[in-house]
Amino acid sequence: MCGIVGYAGHRDALPRLASGLSNLEYRGYDSAGVALREGDDVTVYKTVGEVSELRASLPESSEATVGIGHTRWSTHGEPTDTNAHPHTDCTGDVAVVHNGIIDNYDALKEDLEATGHTFASQTDTEVVPHLVEDELADGASAKEAFAAVVERLEGSFALAMVVGDSEEIFLARQDSPLCVGHGDDETFVGSDVTAFLEYAREVTYLENGDVAVVTPDGVTVEHDGEPVERGVEQIEWEADAAEKGGYDHYMLKEIHEQPQALRQTLSGRVDEMQGTVDLDLELPEEYLRSLEEIQIVACGTSYHAGLYAAKLLEEHADVRVTVHVASEYEFKGGRDPWRTLVVAVTQSGETAETLGALRDAARTGARTLAVTNTVGSSVTRTADETLYIRAGPEIGVAATKTFVSQVATLALFAVHVGRQRDALSATEASEILGDVRGLPGAVQQALDADAGVRAVAEEYADSEAFFFIGRRLGHPVALEGALKLKEISYDHAEGFPAGELKHGPLALVTDQTPVLAVLTEGARPDATLNSVKEAESRGAPVIGCHSAGHGEKFIDAAFDIPDLGEMEPLVANVYMQLFAYHVANLKGRAIDKPRNLAKSVTVE
Ligand code: M6R
Repeated sequence: MCGIVGYAGHRDALPRLASGLSNLEYRGYDSAGVALREGDDVTVYKTVGEVSELRASLPESSEATVGIGHTRWSTHGEPTDTNAHPHTDCTGDVAVVHNGIIDNYDALKEDLEATGHTFASQTDTEVVPHLVEDELADGASAKEAFAAVVERLEGSFALAMVVGDSEEIFLARQDSPLCVGHGDDETFVGSDVTAFLEYAREVTYLENGDVAVVTPDGVTVEHDGEPVERGVEQIEWEADAAEKGGYDHYMLKEIHEQPQALRQTLSGRVDEMQGTVDLDLELPEEYLRSLEEIQIVACGTSYHAGLYAAKLLEEHADVRVTVHVASEYEFKGGRDPWRTLVVAVTQSGETAETLGALRDAARTGARTLAVTNTVGSSVTRTADETLYIRAGPEIGVAATKTFVSQVATLALFAVHVGRQRDALSATEASEILGDVRGLPGAVQQALDADAGVRAVAEEYADSEAFFFIGRRLGHPVALEGALKLKEISYDHAEGFPAGELKHGPLALVTDQTPVLAVLTEGARPDATLNSVKEAESRGAPVIGCHSAGHGEKFIDAAFDIPDLGEMEPLVANVYMQLFAYHVANLKGRAIDKPRNLAKSVTVE
């Protein structure tokens, strides 16, 4: 989920690429670069840091009329000058920028190194120019070389390439967006239209499996080796709307990005048939087998993800798990602290209390693991090891797509630990992995039902308070649903374990307090229904997020969830996010920057 820009025309490419990169930087990136084709040479400028730093290092103008550029959100390798894109081959004549993840890069890199290629970076991307170099050396044209290499790639990618002896830009798209802007005698490339909006208002969107060639006159597209027409659309958005992909708020955009974020989270990590996962972790099998306890430390939404994960780990990995609000954490590792694994869950990787808890644990001798979205963040430098959730940048203060990616990542971790500890058979693991892999599609179904959620939000937006209930895996989702609503709508919202309703909160329940209930597999729906009935009999409207057979007769508004085992409550969470969003939007709240809150809380 980085940013790509490209230019092929008759004017100076440099200022156009630079302004495209600035336009893409709204999402917050960690490094940037451009490759210019000048004469028959390719010149690369790149640097860690913001686009402004790159721009300061660029010449004022260039002779180049063809070029590509990139803003990076790291997934493989720290944010450094050498890991910044574009990446080049051994000759420096082939330059490539890439969004997404190349799953099979390890094997490709090994082969390339064995035949003498030298790699400069730690990225997955760099295999592409080296593979192209080999094809060119075998006599292929640039277009043939590029198409042959794309065939060999597994994973998700949007790729753009320039080579020294061609005036074209070569593109490929697989599960990562890429579009082409048609200007006046010039053609642009973008990972989204913001890359070229000030120069071009007509756009061609590439589709999965497309390979395309861009010239100043336009774009030609092939699919499965056959030419195809992709059509041209008019862009109606202004820059601000375009940055949000046409959504009114980043939060809504990020809610809708969840299927794509999940695909990135899972990409290359799951072997459903074998019931195994590959998380690229160094935690040795004997260590995991001798593990006595896992302690999860986190704040806010990440804490809720930790609660969800704890239940999966206990169930599937047969290990004791405790979850701690980081600000309340005190490490107790017993006589053998090394046999306690402390897992810090943090989207930003910079939350002061989570970092403090992790440092305390490390000081006392525990082994530590960071689960984060942010490559190179402080937590990755503090923990012994890091597991990335790969959700892509999140701008809205309210965490949305990162929650589901955190839980999905930790679900894979639970399967990994369970398999290593012989707590889970291959068949059981396959079943869980099948459910996890079903998440992107199931989340998409919930997103497609947004109009219904909005209608329910309109009906109940002016309520006195909102209560969220759920059991087992439904409990962290109830807490998360309430946090989301209070954070962005400023309404009173509370989440409870459903069984606790009758031990106090029921006194607050009236016909003015809607109750949102998680009625799914993994959330003890039958028991939760008792609480639903208690609330209904006090006049409370009940909004049920339910899977088939769980409670539709008892609820005033129902959101359907497909059959997905223990992942079902995560789909309930998507409905709750949409509900919170619409309630807040109806009240005109500052959704992306709610009052008093910051995206990253770096002070205790
Ligand atoms: O970056 P982190 O995951 O460590 O952040 C933790 C919390 O500050 C964060 O989840 C916060 O609760 C969100 N604003 C919730 O939407």
